[in-house]
Amino acid sequence: MWFIRLIGVLSAASIAVTAAGDQSCTITNFEQVSSVIADCTDIRVSDLQVPAGETLDLEFKKTGVTITFEGKTTFGYKEWAGPLLRIKGKALTVVGAEGSVLDGQGQLYWDGKGGKGKKKPKFFKIKATEGSHFKNINLLNCPVQCTSIDHSGPLTLSGWTIDVSAGDKDNLGHNTDGFDINTTDGLVIENTVVKNQDDCIAVNQGTNFLFSNMECSGGHGMSLSVGTSHEISKNTVRNITFADSVVAKSRNGIHIKTHTNSGQGIIADVTYRNITMTDIWRYAVNVEQDYKEGSPTGHPVGNIPIEGLTLDNVRGTLTGGESVPVYIICAEGACTDFNWSSVTFDGAANPSNCSLIPHGFPC
Ligand SMILES: *[C@@H]1O[C@H](CO)[C@@H](O)[C@H](O)[C@H]1NC(C)=O
Ligand SMILES: *[C@@H]1O[C@H](CO)[C@@H](O)[C@H](O)[C@H]1NC(C)=O
Ligand SMILES: *[C@@H]1O[C@H](CO)[C@@H](O)[C@H](O)[C@H]1NC(C)=O
Ligand SMILES: *[C@@H]1O[C@H](CO)[C@@H](O)[C@H](O)[C@H]1NC(C)=O
Ligand SMILES: *[C@@H]1O[C@H](CO)[C@@H](O)[C@H](O)[C@H]1NC(C)=O
Repeated sequence: MWFIRLIGVLSAASIAVTAAGDQSCTITNFEQVSSVIADCTDIRVSDLQVPAGETLDLEFKKTGVTITFEGKTTFGYKEWAGPLLRIKGKALTVVGAEGSVLDGQGQLYWDGKGGKGKKKPKFFKIKATEGSHFKNINLLNCPVQCTSIDHSGPLTLSGWTIDVSAGDKDNLGHNTDGFDINTTDGLVIENTVVKNQDDCIAVNQGTNFLFSNMECSGGHGMSLSVGTSHEISKNTVRNITFADSVVAKSRNGIHIKTHTNSGQGIIADVTYRNITMTDIWRYAVNVEQDYKEGSPTGHPVGNIPIEGLTLDNVRGTLTGGESVPVYIICAEGACTDFNWSSVTFDGAANPSNCSLIPHGFPC
């Protein structure tokens, strides 16, 4: 008999330990963050209020941690640089549970000046490698840039919603880029909605990216912005595909710009396939090799050549008096292999203006 009782006691004890273990891997109070990230591999963040001026910093040396956000995560108001949330690790699984939201409370910061004006915290910084996967994350009201990804890959983001559409009111939200990407190799972003006031995606540097089934609206389109560094490796963008996506009510559909006051670099093998644009009010396609200190100069430089820009099945409608279907300003010989097929735009007030005529498009 005694041993049966003993087994009973032991298994009751082990159940108690398991239950307590689960409990202690849930963060409901900011004070619990450091002990939970040290002790746990399956972590829940549940209705957490992050204090003003603090980063919810989830960095893991160990591989394969799972983090699930539940309920509403809020970040207190403070004028500072942020980020509000930072996640770093290897083979991470990060999940937004059904109905969860990460609320940046951007409406408390927006002043119509974006990166200038009142100091606004960046929202979410990701450094994730070894096949990490971030799914169903729901970001609301970014104060300024929403998500930055660097030193990452292979990494997949799927099923995200970034909703900064409240910033459209009175033009108060600015520079609310959906995803800014740097120094990354191997990235997929898919089945994701971005409603904002700046680039839906802006690639600064990276190789081997696929963006598919994106729905971008209100912003500046699907962009490459290359030449923010003086090192050639940091100005290299290669093998990037945007596919099966929609860009609506935006300044641009496609925007590729290179910065002339940086070092050398290269953009190669970029494809936009099956892209639908609606209500584009400036450029459906805009390729500019003339940026300097954040603005186009009208004087292109070939320090970052563009070798291979394929557009296949790209169509759209434009609206308003400033609209131009295609504007290309390339330095002599610095844009090659622009092969476009089934590219059509309707409704523009002005004609296209191209310093280089793509194969297959009557610019
Ligand atoms: C990418 O790196 C460059 C230079 O290293 C920097 O100027 C830029 O702000 C970075 N962009 C992002 C999104 O981190
Ligand atoms: C281009 O990138 C995609 C997406 O990461 C990848 O699947 C593909 O293998 C890459 N192509 C080459 C030639 O490396
Ligand atoms: C084109 O993309 C849309 C999503 O924007 C998708 O529904 C459709 O199936 C795609 N078409 C092809 C031929 O892949
Ligand atoms: C085309 O673009 C060039 C470079 O910005 C500009 O100088 C020129 O005036 C434009 N042409 C038309 C017809 O708009
Ligand atoms: C563009 O088309 C030319 C001529 O058909 C071909 O030689 C070249 O490889 C194509 N480039 C790309 C990037 O597809």
